[in-house]
Amino acid sequence: MTKPSGNIIVLDETESTQLVAKEYIQEGKSRHGMVIQAMKQKEGIGRLNRSWASPFGGLWISIILQKKIPLKYFQGFSVRMGLAISESLEELLKLPFKVKWPNDLFLNNKKVGGILIDLTSQDIFLKNLILGIGLNVNFELAVLPEEVQQIATTIYQETGKEFSLEKIRDVILTSLNAVLLQFKKGLLPNITPIWKERSQSFESTVRVRMKDLLIEGIEKGITSNGDLIIQTAIGEELISVGEIEQVFGLDV
Ligand code: BTN
Repeated sequence: MTKPSGNIIVLDETESTQLVAKEYIQEGKSRHGMVIQAMKQKEGIGRLNRSWASPFGGLWISIILQKKIPLKYFQGFSVRMGLAISESLEELLKLPFKVKWPNDLFLNNKKVGGILIDLTSQDIFLKNLILGIGLNVNFELAVLPEEVQQIATTIYQETGKEFSLEKIRDVILTSLNAVLLQFKKGLLPNITPIWKERSQSFESTVRVRMKDLLIEGIEKGITSNGDLIIQTAIGEELISVGEIEQVFGLDV
């Protein structure tokens, strides 16, 4: 551990900050708002149990939430967080961040970051939530595994500039605070118009894999719960789990 400062624990290297956060919770050492950050992860975890390459230079953090907030608010949480983070990063770095459903962060048509949520509940309330955020910041794309290089980018790769991880972390924490404040007040802004502005694939043809099912259609927007609305040949479908793939081709 190099720099324990208040609620933020910074590790030089660890397997995964998600796992460290889980250990803190299990051992009763966690507090609401605690942040675990690693300079490098050896076994970073991505969505759908994929691995997440996490070299030096990236922002790898897990934030622990332990407030007694009604679970219903967390339905669209990851989508709301993706939108809030992309907005605040755009403001801070002056770069055109986008989102891809449910919560991928995109820059110049390539994935630059992602969000992972581990949640446990008690009755109708949240018990523990670990919000994992990974952002490819100050390293070259060539550092990532070859298969990832095809679909990903880094902020350094796109701009040739390095940015302060601390500042980026702090604006992300501020965005999270703002979203939690909305929950506290019970006032959730309508994300439908924001989604249209920020989605990487709004009004494009997308494909969604859901186990054995493949759904293809036009992305039409998002519900307040964070479900994706897809217009297929036979009608409108609401997608709540899975992952989308943009289908490129001629429209005419
Ligand atoms: C995704 O697959 O898009 C989500 C990636 C989330 C990666 C972050 S990095 C910090 C935290 N620790 C992990 O092991 N994973 C998350």
